[in-house]
Amino acid sequence: MSGSARVLERCDALARISEEPDRLTRRFGTPAMEEANELVAGWMREAGLTTRVDAVRNLIGRRGEGPFLMLGSHLDTVVDAGRYDGPLGVLIAIEAAQRVDRPLEVVGFSDEEGCRFGTAYLGSSAMTGRFDPAWLELRDGDVCLRDLVGDAGPAREDVLGYVEVHIEQGPVLERLGEPVGVVTAINGQSHAEVTFVGEAGHAGTVPMSLRQDALAGAAECALAVERIAKGHPELVGTVGRIEAKPGAINVIPGEVMFTVDVRAPQDALRKHAVAAIRAEIESTSRKRNLGSEVELLQEFGSTACASGLMEQMERAVERQGFPARRLPSGAGHDGMALGAITDICMLFVRCKGGISHNPLESISAEDAAAGARVLLDFIEHFAPLQR
Ligand code: HGY
Ligand code: MN
Ligand code: MN
Repeated sequence: MSGSARVLERCDALARISEEPDRLTRRFGTPAMEEANELVAGWMREAGLTTRVDAVRNLIGRRGEGPFLMLGSHLDTVVDAGRYDGPLGVLIAIEAAQRVDRPLEVVGFSDEEGCRFGTAYLGSSAMTGRFDPAWLELRDGDVCLRDLVGDAGPAREDVLGYVEVHIEQGPVLERLGEPVGVVTAINGQSHAEVTFVGEAGHAGTVPMSLRQDALAGAAECALAVERIAKGHPELVGTVGRIEAKPGAINVIPGEVMFTVDVRAPQDALRKHAVAAIRAEIESTSRKRNLGSEVELLQEFGSTACASGLMEQMERAVERQGFPARRLPSGAGHDGMALGAITDICMLFVRCKGGISHNPLESISAEDAAAGARVLLDFIEHFAPLQR
């Protein structure tokens, strides 16, 4: 079986490991996540790597001693996920690792999506010494993050570079008709949880003029997030989750929590948008007589890929017979954390319709093979940059 055929078959095998019977959900620290780590660790060992799981549950396959090139991606998923976002990059890296003999690590990062505790890039952040102790207090129901991790330890050293293959999760390569593209930078992102507190009441008896309806306030702010993001072509803003209490058809919601995700290539633009959203929340709070709290969960600045590694990746793309195309990443990746300790580089692989974070996510065997060939070529010619 060819390497890329094995990659797609293994993506299918991993997609069967889920917290839920009828859709793919594999969040940090769950039994499904542990099962996936064990399966991938076996594949790493078959490739001749020695494996370990670190204090924040990153799966690490190692070859050789001394300063090394780090490869990989993440093994956790969003809720109702596609099967290639993350695993494709880990499995393509395993294929490459068994064909080269230079010192390297293949990493299956443990919590890139942050869907359980709100801590995106947790595993990669821990590797760079950026694990925020406040995260230990984050909870998922009666499970506290503190119960699932050990001492992350100091930032990793001797990392000569980090390279990740990932589906594009956007439409650019498909529109260009190209299978692969070289990433220029990863857009910065801000994540927050907003809580409105009003007054629960009887849906049939409280006059509209006397209500403190927390859900109506949240709805107004969700539309404000959309309006502010539409105000600039490079901004995106999303309210992904909303929880209303007590959540009964005949009760005016007394308390609502909703999430906000804001992204942009320029950090100043993103921060300006976050400030405008905060202002909307405050004015809605006053107008509707609601208590409000904004908890800024995480902020990651826009992260540039190392130009020297982009050039090396472009040469690899050309040697494999493709035009070297550059494009930014609207999606976040572990490179945002690893950029703090080493030079980062990413190769995008075309995905059908640019669809991702959706079970309809798909790639072709040819494009997976293209990504695998380019990565192997990159590794074979990799020369560490002078830092
Ligand atoms: O949210 C993101 O862009 C990534 O999937 N964590
Ligand atoms: Mn991803
Ligand atoms: Mn993702």
